[in-house]
Amino acid sequence: MATLEIRDLHVSVEADNATKEILKGVDLTVKQGETHAIMGPNGSGKSTLAYSLAGHPKYTITSGSVTLDGEDVLEMTVDERARAGLFLAMQYPVEIPGVSVSNFLRTSATAVRGEAPKLRTWVKEVKETMGRLQMDPAFAERNVNEGFSGGEKKRHEILQLELLRPKVAILDETDSGLDVDALRIVSEGVNRVRETGEVGTLLITHYTRILRYIKPDFVHVFANGRIAESGGAELADKLENEGYEAYVKGGASA
Ligand SMILES: Nc1ncnc2c1ncn2[C@@H]1O[C@H](COP(=O)(O)OP(=O)(O)O)[C@@H](O)[C@H]1O
Ligand SMILES: [Mg+2]
Repeated sequence: MATLEIRDLHVSVEADNATKEILKGVDLTVKQGETHAIMGPNGSGKSTLAYSLAGHPKYTITSGSVTLDGEDVLEMTVDERARAGLFLAMQYPVEIPGVSVSNFLRTSATAVRGEAPKLRTWVKEVKETMGRLQMDPAFAERNVNEGFSGGEKKRHEILQLELLRPKVAILDETDSGLDVDALRIVSEGVNRVRETGEVGTLLITHYTRILRYIKPDFVHVFANGRIAESGGAELADKLENEGYEAYVKGGASA
C-alpha cells in the first residue's frame, strides 16, 4: 500500500517584501485506501498545504519532508508528482485556453499511465464516467475551466480523479460553491473512487456538510499552520457544534 508521509513541514511565502511562515510543522500520514478530512478556519494554511504538495513555485519549503512510498516528493517536478500517483485538485483551478477537456484528460491519462489509453475503451470510459457525474457529453469539447461554473469545475475535478485513479488524492474545498444536488453527485464520485480501496484521499474543507456524504476515517483540525488535533469522524460532529473557536484562541487567525 502506498503511503504519503508529511513530516514537520514548514512553508513560507514572500509577501510585501517580507518572508511569512504559513505552515509551522505539519505531520500527516495518508495511506492508500484511507480517507482523511482536514478541517480548519479560513486562513489557517489548508490551501498552502495543498499548493506545497503540488509544487507551486510561490511556496518555499523551509524544512521538513514529504515522501510517497519513500520517494522524495519535494524533489519531483509537477509532472513527476502526477506520475508517482499524486492527484491535486486546487481550490481555484486554472483555465487552459485552447485545450479541450477531452484532450486534457487523454494527455493526463497518458502521462500518468505511461502509455496512451486505447481509444475505443477510453472514449467509453470517459462517456460513462461523465454520465455518472451527470455531465453533458458536449462538455468534453469545452476548453478546460474556461467559463466553467463552480459546480462544473468541481465535477471536472472528480471526472479526472475517477479516470486517473491516483494513489493519493488531495481535494481542496471540493464542496465550495456546490448546491445540494451537485454536492451529492460530486461526493458519490469521491465515494466510488474510495470504494476501490486503491486511493488515499485528503479532503480539505472548511465546512462539515460534505462529511454527511463522505465519511472520513480520520479528521484533523488545522489551525495556525499545523494540525491541532486528530480524531475519528466524531471530531467532525464536535466541530459542527462548537466551531473552531477553541483552536484559534490566542493564535493569529487572519
Ligand atoms: N501566495 C501568497 N502570498 C501571500 N500570502 C499568502 C499566500 N498564500 C497564502 N497566504 C497567506 O497564508 C495564510 C493561509 O492561507 P491559505 O493557505 O489560503 O488558508 P486556508 O486555505 O486555510 O483558508 C493566509 O494568511 C494567506 O493570506
Ligand atoms: Mg483554502
